[in-house]
Amino acid sequence: MIVTIDGVAASGKSSVSAGVAQALGVPYVSSGLLYRAVTLLGLEAGAALHEPAALLDCLQANPPRLEALASGNRVWLGQRDLTPDLHSTRVDRGVSVVAALPEVRAWVDAQLRTLPAPLVAEGRDMGTNVFPHAQAKFYLTASPRVRAQRRAYERPEDVAAIEAALTERDRLDTVQSAPAADAHVIDTSELSLQGVIDAVLARLPAR
Ligand code: DC
Repeated sequence: MIVTIDGVAASGKSSVSAGVAQALGVPYVSSGLLYRAVTLLGLEAGAALHEPAALLDCLQANPPRLEALASGNRVWLGQRDLTPDLHSTRVDRGVSVVAALPEVRAWVDAQLRTLPAPLVAEGRDMGTNVFPHAQAKFYLTASPRVRAQRRAYERPEDVAAIEAALTERDRLDTVQSAPAADAHVIDTSELSLQGVIDAVLARLPAR
């Protein structure tokens, strides 16, 4: 079975996907980490983030590899664990530009499609584009203020600045962020993490 969990930035996708995957006893896959890894490598190489050729050169020379562990996803570049550097403010700022490039999207999609089912896949276009045949699709939303408050626990910035950055990222991500026509849309603003996980599990087809 493939379950897709898409949604806006900081809607709780990663924590919910991890919890659902754990309940099902299957791996989860965080596609946003691959976009973040491409962004980090571009920044470190001094590449212009809107130029696909330079980014693809980096990817072809030394491709990052997603490790879909049940305990948390990691991205490796050879022996180097990129994961701790993927949620910095500079990666947050650049990632929408990188994720808008069709060439980068094609590379990420190809990595994801090699992963064997069963799995829970989390991102923006898992249900619409990467796994359109998934058995169950979800789309998580939450108000910008609630999302900013959640992020404020992870980032040393004030809530208003985070909310402004999230709203801007929503705008830049709209193209690839639409819910699939057959997705269950869940507003997580008023729900606890376990409440969202339970809502997803309750809507899965009989196993
Ligand atoms: O889920 P996240 O915040 O880690 O995602 C980082 C960025 O990657 C986000 O700004 C949008 C982009 N992204 C995407 O375009 N498609 C995906 N499937 C996953 C993420």
